[in-house]
Amino acid sequence: MKLNIAILPGDGIGPEIVEQAMKVVKAVAQKFNHELAYEYGLTGAAAIDKVGDPYPAETHELCMKSDAVLFGAIGDPKFDNNPKAPVRPEQGLLAMRKKLGLYANIRPVETFESLLHKSPLRRELVEGANFVCIRELTGGIYFGEKGRKDNGNTAFDTNTYTREEIERILKLAYEFAGKRNNKLTVVDKANVLESSRLWREVAQEMAPGYPDIKTEYMFVDNAAMQIIQWPKNFDVMVTENMFGDILTDEASVITGSLGLLPSASIGIHTSVFEPIHGSYPQAAGKDIANPIATILSAAMMFEYAFNLTGEGKIIRDAVAASLAEGYVTVDIAEGKSYKTSEVGDWIAAWVEKN
Ligand code: IPM
Ligand code: MG
Repeated sequence: MKLNIAILPGDGIGPEIVEQAMKVVKAVAQKFNHELAYEYGLTGAAAIDKVGDPYPAETHELCMKSDAVLFGAIGDPKFDNNPKAPVRPEQGLLAMRKKLGLYANIRPVETFESLLHKSPLRRELVEGANFVCIRELTGGIYFGEKGRKDNGNTAFDTNTYTREEIERILKLAYEFAGKRNNKLTVVDKANVLESSRLWREVAQEMAPGYPDIKTEYMFVDNAAMQIIQWPKNFDVMVTENMFGDILTDEASVITGSLGLLPSASIGIHTSVFEPIHGSYPQAAGKDIANPIATILSAAMMFEYAFNLTGEGKIIRDAVAASLAEGYVTVDIAEGKSYKTSEVGDWIAAWVEKN
């Protein structure tokens, strides 16, 4: 099969972790006889520095003509403490999501036996936890009307959702739940927010159409607590953009490392695969960042964009082997730790050998 991939390394550790994922993608392509064609695009602060736009038109064209996008990370500290910056790297990520119509962000939360002792939760609470958070990605407060008034002294962001936006993400979430353990938790703040009441109304209308799936409703504050107390009770969780942003960062740490969790953003045009962690600027260029979340994002790319499950599985097996053997970066190492590039080489070599 021909695999046309756009590679957007982005900022901070983005280039080095994407490089490791590409070593693994190349090993998989060779092993399974796929023809691999890939091209790099600019995004984030790197793109602002070069062309003044965090998601340039050429990058969008490249994404549109590719079958999948492998994305690193976006963000640079020089913008974080400057609320007046006219253009920010994160706007590139949001523009990409919006223009590619990526309305669903799939974030699986899985625990690894060999890392349970790294979790901030007790082993018995977290062992075996496995759920998927489906975050709406192109609506809500991220994209609603925003601005300033009173000479800049009052600021507002608006959380807007249409019935259509809610229906399409719930439909996708129900389909996911149907392929897993038939339980869907709809997370909202319907006791306070009108937008959440529309979410709940739509969910209640749709639920009878999925009689095999148990629909549960949960307020977001309660969900934040339950992720810590009973993570094993979740199967598929679906929520709006900002609640999903916050809850998935929370959920990621219970696995023992933020450096492990991949994600897929899917919707209307080309899907994007990226780690859920950020650009970790303190580690940039030091060859210490954990490449596993990006490597697992590549596994999701094979599975979701190309429907190649064997290819995804061998990557997952290779990652599990590196964790089991302790061939890992410093963030999760017990004794000896390995460099980003060494872990990438090891996982790619495992794919070649197995
Ligand atoms: C994420 C990130 C982004 C978001 C930032 C970088 C804009 O936190 O993908 O979760 O808030 O969506
Ligand atoms: Mg986030």
